[in-house]
Amino acid sequence: MEKREQLYEGKAKKVYTTDDPGLYIVSYKDDATAFDGKKKGTIADKGVVNNTMSNILFALIAERGVPTHFVRQLSDRETLVKAVTILPLEVIVRNVAAGHFSERYGVEEGTPLLRSALEFSYKRDDLGDPLINDDHVLALGLATEGEIAQVKEYAAKVNEVMKEFFLDKGLKLIDFKIEFGKLGDGTIILADEISPDTCRLWDVETNEKMDKDRFRRDLGKVEETYREVLSRVSGN
Ligand code: TMP
Ligand code: ASP
Repeated sequence: MEKREQLYEGKAKKVYTTDDPGLYIVSYKDDATAFDGKKKGTIADKGVVNNTMSNILFALIAERGVPTHFVRQLSDRETLVKAVTILPLEVIVRNVAAGHFSERYGVEEGTPLLRSALEFSYKRDDLGDPLINDDHVLALGLATEGEIAQVKEYAAKVNEVMKEFFLDKGLKLIDFKIEFGKLGDGTIILADEISPDTCRLWDVETNEKMDKDRFRRDLGKVEETYREVLSRVSGN
């Protein structure tokens, strides 16, 4: 697979075209940002961890019936994926109160939710990725009713698959963010990444935070934690 030009550079990844118009190469960086890019840093080898971990999870999720962009890992940091147009929505699923949910609704972090809760954020860095509801999504033409329904069904399935998977590795899935993309024929598939950058994972025994909150909140042991999560996820 031949890499052509850089199509896009995000905060954590670069995307390249290839000689096949249906395929892109994503390249994971060590750059880390938080709070709409106001906090910046690097986490050594985060790109390697997030690439490998995402691919393990995407393969599992695809096996369980949710189509994904994953094609094959090319190297430590690079993966071949299906070319999609990303829906401009961050799809967040929460099982336990934390982060913005705790702040917004005044619920102590760690409080289990009575049921899992899905929310959308509008992917607009210039607006701070605001919370958005289904009506707003339709009114702005960001997705159709059918696409919203599909995304919700897939997100619920991803939550079930990941909760079980992480629990087996001694990690509680508190919440996570996923993104979906559209193929040329309109098919919706899971895209972007699933990593300690995009999930909250707490150790089952100690409740220790094993995710990007260590960077966001200056909790220390950031690199070690990313390595530990990959080691658990890959079963080493
Ligand atoms: P939040 O509580 O800050 O809204 O985060 C919910 C989940 O989404 C958490 O697992 C972290 C993840 N997330 C991202 O992947 N990207 C983001 O830009 C933000 C704000 C959160
Ligand atoms: N990466 C996001 C940003 O820079 C936020 C986060 O993950 O907390 O805004």
